[in-house]
Amino acid sequence: MVSITFIDVQGTARTVEAEIGATVMETAIRNGVPGIEAECGGACACATCHVYVAEEWAEKAGGAESMEEDMLDFAFEVRPTSRLSCQIRVREDLDGLVVHTPARQG
Ligand code: FES
Repeated sequence: MVSITFIDVQGTARTVEAEIGATVMETAIRNGVPGIEAECGGACACATCHVYVAEEWAEKAGGAESMEEDMLDFAFEVRPTSRLSCQIRVREDLDGLVVHTPARQG
């Protein structure tokens, strides 16, 4: 288990336990973290699981693959550290990961 912190637009931080191998999106849904809708269930086909990876974690979390890049075009207010959280797999070295949820999805 590792911990992931989700921070919403109001600045409210929620730190939850995440299972290695699960996705950041699944972790959010399982823990009732608001601000992530995940309409397609993790198929990289909806862009409603959009998050901003905190600057200090951006390199470790890695960048979006091409399919994810294409889908991000449909996300609201995309920034350089935008990712689809269903495409970020939880790993041991992501313990302490911080992501911000956007003002709205889609
Ligand atoms: Fe649909 Fe991530 S849950 S793209």
